[in-house]
Amino acid sequence: MNQNIALLDHPLIQHKLTLLRDKQTGSKEFREMVSEIAMLMCYEATRDLPLKEVDIETPVALAKAKVISGKKLAFVPILRAGLGMVEGVLQMVPAAKVGHIGLYRDPESLHPVDYYVKLPEDVREREVILLDPMLATGGSAVEAIHVLKRQGVQHIKFMCIIAAPEGMKTLTDAHPDVPVFCAALDNHLNEHGYIVPGLGDAGDRLFGTK
Ligand code: PRP
Ligand code: URA
Repeated sequence: MNQNIALLDHPLIQHKLTLLRDKQTGSKEFREMVSEIAMLMCYEATRDLPLKEVDIETPVALAKAKVISGKKLAFVPILRAGLGMVEGVLQMVPAAKVGHIGLYRDPESLHPVDYYVKLPEDVREREVILLDPMLATGGSAVEAIHVLKRQGVQHIKFMCIIAAPEGMKTLTDAHPDVPVFCAALDNHLNEHGYIVPGLGDAGDRLFGTK
């Protein structure tokens, strides 16, 4: 597999992903699972954050201990479905800022249509983790990364729960500098652009629409 792709298939993630895929799982449980999977994935996606040593005093002695240093983080969900991942990642990094990029896929052409961008003012000085549970054709992720790069963001990671091989190739071809973290690489896209076996429409399942 491409060096820039990390498949995060920890048993806890796989178990929760099975619940997510099951069509019997209702919105409440679906939201909880998306959030928990995002939290577990964030743990791996932040593994390379730089540390620095500081002096502290424990109740017993003076000590040298480590804290996170360097660039600050921003999480950017792609609306709507990426919103479901925000709570989980913020549990891991509560001080991170959150931006939003609104995109939807045109149901006919499957091309992404932008409708909203709101990013932290200092976003170019931050490392950005872009969030979207589904990477299907790759159009939405590719476009969202273009939006971030146009704002001057230099360090971007993309975190999705399920990816299709087609979308993974499109994304890594378009943005080879962006590491991708996913929990599952599925079989293929169907004729409607849905991931097979996938989990259906993530936004609709999260928010109970349709
Ligand atoms: C879904 C999903 C991604 C996109 C993936 O969003 O959350 O953003 O499709 O497809 P792609 O890789 O082919 O671009 P959707 O367009 O259904 O919008 P929603 O989140 O508002 O429901
Ligand atoms: N978006 C989704 O929510 N699900 C898919 O399978 C493809 C795109």
